[in-house]
Order: sequence, then structure tokens, then C-alpha cells
Amino acid sequence: MGTREVPGRQTVRPRAGPMLQDSGVPHADDDAAARTSRRTTASSTATPARTATTLDPAAMRAHYRAEGLSEQDLEPGPFAQFSLWFAQAEASGLHEPNAMIVSTADERGRPSSRTVLLKRYDEQGFVFFTNYGSRKGRELEANPYVSLLFPWHGIARQVIISGTAERTGRDETAAYFRTRPHGSQLGAWASEQSSRVASREELDRMYAQLAARYPEGEDVPAPAQWGGYRVRPESVEFWQGRENRLHDRLRFTRTEDDGWEVERLCP
Ligand SMILES: Cc1cc2nc3c(=O)[nH]c(=O)nc-3n(C[C@H](O)[C@H](O)[C@H](O)COP(=O)(O)O)c2cc1C
Repeated sequence: MGTREVPGRQTVRPRAGPMLQDSGVPHADDDAAARTSRRTTASSTATPARTATTLDPAAMRAHYRAEGLSEQDLEPGPFAQFSLWFAQAEASGLHEPNAMIVSTADERGRPSSRTVLLKRYDEQGFVFFTNYGSRKGRELEANPYVSLLFPWHGIARQVIISGTAERTGRDETAAYFRTRPHGSQLGAWASEQSSRVASREELDRMYAQLAARYPEGEDVPAPAQWGGYRVRPESVEFWQGRENRLHDRLRFTRTEDDGWEVERLCP
């Protein structure tokens, strides 16, 4: 499988239509009517601004699709399986299916999580871009173990990747940076990610200074502190929601000779 760029919705196309139909993947909005009626009920007795306490999360219970994920359905390796599900997530209409939760831990094992965007993946790993001086960047320098989670709730699926992160090469970072919109390039310079800033005005002032220095159309170099991490998976779990909470969980784990073995986990 070749490298896939994931800059936006247009570039990733699902596989052929019949396969998607056969797979029974629902559209992300299939439950929209049910959700709307629940919201209407919740807000009918109070003004919208003060309804927070009337919505009981324990009463929210989605019913998941019956079609399962079997060992026979799986693609031969986790990258091919991810590729298939990623295309189906996109085709289902999910918003930003390349958004993933990255969890890191500091040297004392204290965890932290945040959302980032997957920008590339292939057999070498899953790539995202960030500020190396950010909290996640500092944690990854001290402790490269990382978890990536794709929360595709709208189609009752999640993918969880565990592995280690290493910085992408400078050339790869520079090549990706050049594809970013001018404003995002300036934003990468203007924001010392995760550090305290005195005010919103301060942030806007830094951006304005950079915009004056690098007007639209002028090349902006990638900041030294900004770049990619590539996560090399040790395991990849594919989770498919099913009825009665008897979900399917199939996990690929890397073997010593760089192959993969598959285990089924209890839901
Ligand atoms: C949908 C979404 C996508 C995001 N994508 C990125 C990203 O690709 N890279 C990044 O550094 N931060 C991204 N962020 C911001 C991060 O969630 C986070 O606020 C930031 O990276 C600082 O995290 P840290 O202080 O834990 O290091 C995104 C946030 C959201 C909600």
C-alpha cells in the first residue's frame, strides 16, 4: 500500500460502491432523527440556556448495528484494514474522520490527551504535525510511547493504535509545511503551543507582525520547533459496535519478525 495523503475530504476516495453497500456501513446521520427527538424532549420544559441539568448521560443508549467484524473479513494487515475503514468513515459522511485522540504520558506516567489530525499513513506509521515544544512534544521526547484513537462514533467504530513516536525527517516536515495554507503557516510561527500567553490580543499582535513580514505569496519557512511525528504501531485494535454490547474487537499485534498476529478480545 502506498503513502496516502490526508489533507482534506476530497483526496480520500472510498473503494468501489458495491463493496461499501455490501459492508452495511451505516451513514453517520442514520440516527439523526432519534437524536433530534431526544433533544426536543430535553429542551421542551426549560429555556435552552438552562437545560444542562435535564440531560441525563446515563439514559443515552445508542443501539449499534448488528453486522459484525469477523476474522475472515479482516484485511491481511492493520494498514490495509485501517485503509478500508478510513475510506468507509469518510464515505459515511463523518466530520473529520482523520481527527484522532493522541494520548501521551510524561516521565512519571501522568497521561494527557488531545485531538490532532492524521496527515499521512503507510506501512511505516501514522503521521501528525505539531509543535515539538508543546506539552505532547515534551512528553514524547521523554517517553515515546503513545496511543492514537479514532472515535468514529457515528458508524459505531473505533480504532486504537499503540506504539512509539519518532520525529519525521526535516525534509518531510518542510514538504508538508509548504502544502499548508499561508495563514496556518504563520499560525505555526505565532503560537508557542502549550505555553501561557498574556491575552488574545498578544496572540493577534504576534500574528499581525508575522503577516507583515511574510505577506501572502511569500515563502514561509517551517519553524525549527514545528514538525511531524510518525507513530510506529505495536498493536492496532478494530472495534465494531454490535447489539447487546457484544461488540467485536480484533487486535493486530506485531510479532518479533515484523509480521502480525490477530486476537479477539472480549468487549
Ligand atoms: C479537530 C482538531 C484538530 C486538531 N489538530 C491538531 C494538529 O494536527 N496538530 C496540533 O498540534 N494540534 C491540533 N489540535 C489542537 C490540539 O488538540 C491541542 O490543543 C494542541 O496540539 C496543544 O496540545 P498539548 O498542549 O497537549 O500539546 C487540534 C484540535 C482539534 C479539536
